[in-house]
Amino acid sequence: MTKILMVCLGNICRSPLAHGIMESKLDNSNYYVDSAGTANYHAGDLPDHRSIAVARANGIDISGQRGRQFKVEDFDSFDHIFVMDESNYSNVVKLARNDEDIQKVKLILDDGSGHTNIVHDPYYGDTSDFEKVYEQLDDACERIKNSI
Ligand code: 4NP
Repeated sequence: MTKILMVCLGNICRSPLAHGIMESKLDNSNYYVDSAGTANYHAGDLPDHRSIAVARANGIDISGQRGRQFKVEDFDSFDHIFVMDESNYSNVVKLARNDEDIQKVKLILDDGSGHTNIVHDPYYGDTSDFEKVYEQLDDACERIKNSI
C-alpha cells in the first residue's frame, strides 16, 4: 500500500480537494490518500463549502472529510507528502526528524522543470479561485498518478 498525504494550512480548502482528486484517480486497494493542515484552526471541520461545491461539480464528493492537523507521526505513516506552497513546505519540514522525512515532502506543482508554481490559498477569494485551484490540482494529481 502506497500512502499519500496532501497538506495545506487549514485543511479545509486546498488539501481536501487534492485528497479527493487523488483518491478518485487511484486504485484504492493499492493506494491510501489522506490530507492534513499545518495549523489546527479547522480540526474536525468539514471542507470549505466552496471546495465541496467545485469538487461536486466535477463528480467528486469530499463532504465526508474532516480537518486534522499534520503531526510528526505522519512522516512514518506516509510515503509521499505533497504541500501546496512554500509556507506549508517550511512548516512541515520544520517537524522533520531526519533526511528521510525531508525527502518525502514535495511541492505538489513541482514537475521537475525547475519552474515550480504554487497553489495559492483561495480562502479569501471567490468561486473562480476555487476553480483554478481545482484545475491546478487535477493536473498535478494526473502527473503524480503517472509518476508514482
Ligand atoms: P487552506 O486554506 O490552507 O487551503 O485550507 C485556508 C483556510 C483557512 C485558513 C487559512 C487557509 N484560516 O486561516 O482559517
